Amino acid sequence: MRMQASEFAPMPWKEPDARPAAVIAGLGTALPRTEISNASLAEHLDTDDEWIRTRTGIASRRRAAPDISMTDLASAAAANALRSAGRTAVDALVLATTTPDRPCPAAGPEVAHRLGQGGIPAFDVSAVCSGFIYATATAAGLISAGMAESVVVTAAETYSRIVDPADRSTAVLFGDGAGAVVLRRGTTGEPGALLAFDLGSDGAERDAIHVPGEREQPEGQRWFSMAGRKVYLRAIEQMTSSARKVMKDCAWSSETVGAFVAHQANARIIDAVANRLQVPSDTAVCEIARVGNTAAASIPLALADAMDGGRLKPGARTVLTAFGGGLTWGSAALTWPHLTHVRSEI
Ligand code: ACO
Repeated sequence: MRMQASEFAPMPWKEPDARPAAVIAGLGTALPRTEISNASLAEHLDTDDEWIRTRTGIASRRRAAPDISMTDLASAAAANALRSAGRTAVDALVLATTTPDRPCPAAGPEVAHRLGQGGIPAFDVSAVCSGFIYATATAAGLISAGMAESVVVTAAETYSRIVDPADRSTAVLFGDGAGAVVLRRGTTGEPGALLAFDLGSDGAERDAIHVPGEREQPEGQRWFSMAGRKVYLRAIEQMTSSARKVMKDCAWSSETVGAFVAHQANARIIDAVANRLQVPSDTAVCEIARVGNTAAASIPLALADAMDGGRLKPGARTVLTAFGGGLTWGSAALTWPHLTHVRSEI
């Protein structure tokens, strides 16, 4: 039988020797206003609300209006994260996306410019649904290398632009949105400190989740495709082993984890990974119902919802894990900080 976190007395976690670390200092999100319910998709697709809810946990998702770009969402989330951190400036910007508005250049510099931060290093990271973890690890690396004191990481996606609206196997899954964090230099003893990362990839399975290139498919619209069942099983296996690694690095036993936040692709996958990890049953965050799978943006959006709903509390030992196209996967372990989430709809 799995135990509830509430059965354990809160244990303030103390690092024996505080070492330098990147610390989460702000959290911002931005969602498109337009909400698309399961029922409205069922009007033109051979699907129904019950199939989507029971197979995925999704009830609705957001869709960006034609005049809203991925860069708009990334900029709004990053501006909100800066407000949350009480900062007007950072030393670098990392943007995670696989739905860029243009193939070239990267959108990071434009987002930095819009934030009034022209001149700072700014670039994109492309790791599909693992993008937020990859971008956060990159930003933490810039801080630990002494190249930046503060970095904004923004993850934004507009999957509605690459998913075939007539394909029921993918059209029901994805939503548009963005989430961002500000990292600053601090120590491992502080709430918000990023204590361990694990990253990995398997390019042999590059076709399991992909959008064909021009050479592969010279004619017609090139839509996103996913080998759903195969990806389902691999996602469970890989997120479990990756999350275990960061918990081991921190010497955290399962029952002391206070929040488990996996990539929000499917409620059944989140449950299966939480079960395998044997984290307390009430710690697995599942916020997929409202926004669907938002790829790179899903972890910061889930963190924000869990925090606003009172399920993610300062000091909680928090494990993040993600899996996506590439294939790629990654995990991070941190203690949750005291902060106020800033949100907007555009
Ligand atoms: N409505 C009704 N029926 C459907 C729908 C739909 N929207 N979609 C598929 N079906 C049907 C299929 O055609 C199939 O019918 P059949 O048995 O007659 O052939 C049946 O439902 C079962 O299909 P499966 O694909 O086996 O369904 P499954 O339970 O695996 O759920 C899903 C599909 C939701 C895609 C699941 O496999 C999944 O979540 N996969 C992993 C997603 C993931 O983790 N992705 C990684 C991150 S995403 C990224 O990187 C961008």
